[in-house]
Amino acid sequence: MCGIIGYISNEDGGNGRDDEHGGGERADGGPTGGGRALPVLVDGLRNLEYRGYDSAGVALVEDDAVAVHKQQGVIDDLALPDAHPATCGVGHTRWSTHGKPTDANAHPHTDCTGDVAVVHNGIIENYDHLRAELEAAGHAFSSETDTEVVPHLLEAELAARREAATDGGRVDEDGDAGGAESAADGDGEPVDDVGPYRTASTSGGFGDVDVVAAVEAVVDRLEGSYAVAVTVAGREELVVARQDSPLVLGLGDGANFVASDVTAFVEHTREVAYLEDGDVARVTGDAVDVRHDGAWVERDRKTVDWEAEAAEKGGYDHYMLKEIYEQPGALRQTLSGRIDEVAGDVDLDVDLPADVLADVEEIQLVACGTSYHAGLYARRLLEEFADVRVTVEVASEYEFTGGRDPWETLVVAVTQSGETADTLSAMRKAAKAGARTLAVTNTVGSTAAREADDALYIRAGPEIGVAATKTFAAQVTALSLLTVHVGRRRGALSSERASHLLENLRGLPGAVQQLLDASDRLQAVASEYVDEDAYFFVGRQLGSAVALEGALKLKEIAYVHAEGFPSGELKHGTLALVTEDTPVLTVLTEGARPKETLNNVKEVESRGAPVIGFSSYDAAANYLDVEIPIPDLGVLEPLVANVGLQLFAYHVANELGRAIDKPRNLAKSVTVE
Ligand code: AGP
Repeated sequence: MCGIIGYISNEDGGNGRDDEHGGGERADGGPTGGGRALPVLVDGLRNLEYRGYDSAGVALVEDDAVAVHKQQGVIDDLALPDAHPATCGVGHTRWSTHGKPTDANAHPHTDCTGDVAVVHNGIIENYDHLRAELEAAGHAFSSETDTEVVPHLLEAELAARREAATDGGRVDEDGDAGGAESAADGDGEPVDDVGPYRTASTSGGFGDVDVVAAVEAVVDRLEGSYAVAVTVAGREELVVARQDSPLVLGLGDGANFVASDVTAFVEHTREVAYLEDGDVARVTGDAVDVRHDGAWVERDRKTVDWEAEAAEKGGYDHYMLKEIYEQPGALRQTLSGRIDEVAGDVDLDVDLPADVLADVEEIQLVACGTSYHAGLYARRLLEEFADVRVTVEVASEYEFTGGRDPWETLVVAVTQSGETADTLSAMRKAAKAGARTLAVTNTVGSTAAREADDALYIRAGPEIGVAATKTFAAQVTALSLLTVHVGRRRGALSSERASHLLENLRGLPGAVQQLLDASDRLQAVASEYVDEDAYFFVGRQLGSAVALEGALKLKEIAYVHAEGFPSGELKHGTLALVTEDTPVLTVLTEGARPKETLNNVKEVESRGAPVIGFSSYDAAANYLDVEIPIPDLGVLEPLVANVGLQLFAYHVANELGRAIDKPRNLAKSVTVE
């Protein structure tokens, strides 16, 4: 998840160009009436930094160029001029998905001419195909990102339209054929190095070419998700487009904004219009014009009443709740471009070829806390679908022992941060012994990603709340994809079976949304059962992994005693603690042996314990005090049930007035052993 901001003002409005340090704020504190882009973009990026913070940049429109300043690091490290006269520009804060966090991979990205600058949020699934096509046509790329295809496609589109408008004649000075050729020197290299500062217009300008129409033609070729904002040298306009990635317009007085969310500009204006999927908009200081399917359309104007801090949390009271609600979108990103339905296979960008996997006798998953629970879930999937022996170990307990052959062992470190000391230590022990390592992480460029032989990114976007929520769901989802990858390459999984699992994965975001829609019900259940003596979480198989995770969530944010374990273990001890003041939360779904679990439910029910069931098993209904229905989704049903457990934990903690985002004694990333 990245953050986008765009700003454009009338040169004459508010504190315009005559004020050297003029920003976008009027002296009377009202909506922005004009001013220079740079300070507005920088403030906006600071407000968006929670969306991602490994690199940042801005593009400022000049008469015959676009000045780009971008580099790895946080906004405050960005080397910027003290002032810049531009009244139009875009900015971006990045959370890497394609390519490491480097200066070259930071946004904005430019075309060969330096006239077009683009910022992007989302994933362009067909970028490799587009890039190959563009490179064959002479375009020189400067980054490893998927985004960079957009400015190059736009360059070609604008050049073609300019040529058509001038009846095939050239409008630039050197008589070149335009497009990519005009952008590169004799060796096909970009004219200017991409560095922190770049101004390199060589196109001769794109004249009066309709940028909106050109952007429409370009986004028509993109597959995947995107929110893009485009600037073109000499043009006092921003052109933006969205598909499955948020984009909101901020409507000022003589100045307008565009951003990933209102946080970016809420200090300037609270008047907004949300773009819809398929929209392309032209934004100037005076006007906002939206096109959809080739026709001009109106989008409702709304007034937001959030303060800046609340806006950063998207209007939610806590980051944790916001992140719970972000799960459908996060999971779409995890899956994006990785499923090949026709072949019943996946495309994972990891170098684990069939001959390597054929030699693997055992997969060892190492992790801590929530990531360990994701590992427990994945173990069942790998064993069932990839027919491989799997062990899961708490990373702090890990040793590479037991007579295993390192050459036949794949060690998978599951760590959302990629910086957990215990997990890194386990991974290093495995690597030292000679085993191949794979990091499954949310953080491109993290220590785990750098040190492992391969990295599989879960693409959940930054998680601010200490309690892991969307990253757990994304870890299990990414590990499910890995299961298909391993199963197919080892010849253990038929394409039909793989297709069925992939179909369930496709349905996962929608099923999670169904649980989120039941949040009011879970809030009421939490109110009813707050302040009990203890809470037990039970399930079997995949359900027991989720039971452990549900208990951990409640412990860490509500500070109440909770225990999770396989339901079959109740009768071996814990049943002695079960009373009418100890609610038992139970996973009764496919993949969790609901029939056997129900027998254990009967044991606690007969002792008076309230039973809250997350269930797709009809026979259970009579034994449950509360039934939360889980939609049919095969082996992913327990993962959906987990969203209900997250909401339960959140609402209990909220009723108890806990510091939900920063629970006592805990840190987001544990970098000591
Ligand atoms: C759970 O809510 C915690 N945040 C914690 O258990 C966490 O999962 C654990 O510390 C591992 O972190 P990692 O995924 O960043 O390695």
